[in-house]
Amino acid sequence: MSLPETATPGTPGLGSGLLRLVEPFPVQAHRYPRFRYMGSKHRLLEWIHGVLTDLEFDRAVDGFSGSGTVSYLLKAMGKEVVANDFLRFPGVLTRALVENGDTRLGADDVDAVLASRAPARRRFIERTFRDVFYTPAELKFLDDAWEGIRGLSDPAKQALALSALLRSCIKRQPRGVFTVGGDLEKYKDGRRDLQLSLREHFVEQVREYNRAVFDNGRRNRSRHGDVFAAPGDTDLVYLDPPYVPRSDDNCYVKRYHFLEGLACYWEGVRILPDSKVRKIEKPFTPFSYRRTADDAFRRLFRHFADATIVLSYSSNAYPDLEWLVKAMKAVKRRVEVVAKPHRYHFGTHGAVRRNQVQEYLVVGLS
Ligand SMILES: C[S@@+](CC[C@H](N)C(=O)[O-])C[C@H]1O[C@@H](n2cnc3c(N)ncnc32)[C@H](O)[C@@H]1O
Repeated sequence: MSLPETATPGTPGLGSGLLRLVEPFPVQAHRYPRFRYMGSKHRLLEWIHGVLTDLEFDRAVDGFSGSGTVSYLLKAMGKEVVANDFLRFPGVLTRALVENGDTRLGADDVDAVLASRAPARRRFIERTFRDVFYTPAELKFLDDAWEGIRGLSDPAKQALALSALLRSCIKRQPRGVFTVGGDLEKYKDGRRDLQLSLREHFVEQVREYNRAVFDNGRRNRSRHGDVFAAPGDTDLVYLDPPYVPRSDDNCYVKRYHFLEGLACYWEGVRILPDSKVRKIEKPFTPFSYRRTADDAFRRLFRHFADATIVLSYSSNAYPDLEWLVKAMKAVKRRVEVVAKPHRYHFGTHGAVRRNQVQEYLVVGLS
């Protein structure tokens, strides 16, 4: 693929050409509990930071926050952050560590969660996921822990405890996705994450999340909602949407439905009647389909036309880079492209696939 003429591959070089002081990568950003999530930019954080430090901004929106790692980086850079995603569990993760600046779970909170027992009418997880995911004792633990989390009075404490539970569940899931059940016996491969019970994981994860809480002195927010409803009035927007894949599919709900349900105790979501793994209905997003993606990107750029736009893009996606640059140029005076090779790892159908893709940041400036 030939890069557009404005391309500046390899190095940020977005400034005016004058020598600028390079901000060091904030140590705090390394404290974020890494969440195994399709398309997570965790491995690209230092590169993204290098590009962001070259831009002037004070307030930032992360429009598709996913695992929350970029929102947390922005917070660690001292910015006022709005983290947004249309799934619920990314909202829980950013409520715990982006919005929340000073609340931690105390030993008494953890004891209360661990001592809770759900009444018979709230044994939904045990009833619904028997023989699908986890052991019966662990399913019971999840119902009991949720009961305890309901009892925590502070929403920030609830978000921290739920985040710890979410990360426990994904660590305990052999392939890190919930596409097929019955994995626990098949994958007894000595991995520590598979040997620990969910309860043991939870206790560890509470420590991880508590350790990552910090205040950057700003009023940061976590939003659960469509990107088009996120505030367009901001200095900078980071956009990492789910591109239409060239092969396979990019469905987040198919992979993470259990976490999405756990984030709200399956209240207000519908389990598909024919699903063996008790998948829930997926919300529509125009970014996932060829017939709607072009229009969605044009609308997205218009929505954030007044902000500096930083768009993550990878070479194996649709629409292609040239199209995106042209669409961004309709609302921005200057568009620059920064490139970095990146190798993605994620498991599909039991095998680990390695795809060599080119990663880009497309930066739109006024
Ligand atoms: C590539 S992931 C983002 C990954 C994230 N930057 C990270 O580092 O973990 C794309 C995210 O977009 C979210 N999403 C998809 N359509 C959306 C929409 N219309 N509005 C808001 N979020 C959306 C998905 O739930 C998913 O979390």
